This record gives sequence, structure tokens and C-alpha cells, in this order.
Amino acid sequence: MNKVLILNGPNLNMLGAREPEVYGFETLAEVEAACAQKANSLGIEIDFRQTSSEAQLVDWIHEAFANKNAVIINPAALTHYSYSLRDACAMLQSVGLSLIEVHISNPHNREAFRHNSVISSVATGVIAGFGTNSYLLALEALAHN
Ligand code: DQA
Repeated sequence: MNKVLILNGPNLNMLGAREPEVYGFETLAEVEAACAQKANSLGIEIDFRQTSSEAQLVDWIHEAFANKNAVIINPAALTHYSYSLRDACAMLQSVGLSLIEVHISNPHNREAFRHNSVISSVATGVIAGFGTNSYLLALEALAHN
């Protein structure tokens, strides 16, 4: 398998400090380390990134398209309203590249505005609500795809 891009959207750099009652106390660096360990055990190469910029995320999806990378993405709040990110993700779907949408929390048992994802309909699958373990489950799903 080609390298897997693990992309993180707005505010996820604040994990550990940000609403720990919702997202836990693990930092994004710790999530990255856990992903690196899991990926290593699965024989997968990963590139783990975070940005709070919608445009940067769109550019990274274009990069995945060009390089034929599978993607694991936590689009954070952009999940709920970013049509530009959705359209970029649709490009991956149209050429058969896997894209897994992950969430730390379960958006469906939270505020109503989180119940809709504009990304899910162009994702290969969605993993939500398992804490930061959602990322590791996504890596396993890709490995066994
Ligand atoms: C999130 C859920 C989103 O609703 C929220 O905006 C986030 C994080 C999650 O991982 O649970 O920033 O994607």
C-alpha cells in the first residue's frame, strides 16, 4: 500500500487542553505516536498532519489524489459544512482511493449541528466515538481492506 495520509482539521492541535471531557487528555503528538506504532505493526507508512486551514486540507487531498495515497481524515468542524473539502474527497472516491472519516467523539450524540456530515457520503467508511482509538481502528480497516 502507498503511504497513508492522516489529516487533522481545525482545533485538533489543541487536543489534551481542548474540552478534555469530550476529547480526553491525549495530545495530538501522542495520537501521532500511537498511529505510528500501529502503522508500523501493520506494515503501513503514514504521514500525519494537522492544519486549521480549510484550503490547506483541500490541497493535501489533491496531493493524495496525485500520489494515490489513501487518507484517514478527522475534518473536525469542517465535517459539518465544508463543501470544498467534500468535493476534494469526492475526487478520491471517483478513482477508488480509500478515505476513512474519523471522529474522536460520536457527533451523533452531541449537538444537532454535528449530526450532519458532508464528508460521509464520499467516504469509504466512518469511525466515530471510540476516542483517539478511532484513528487506530481506521488504520486496521485500511490494512484489511
Ligand atoms: C470531531 C467532532 C467535530 O464535531 C468537532 O468539530 C471536532 C472534533 C471529533 O473528532 O470528535 O473538532 O471531529
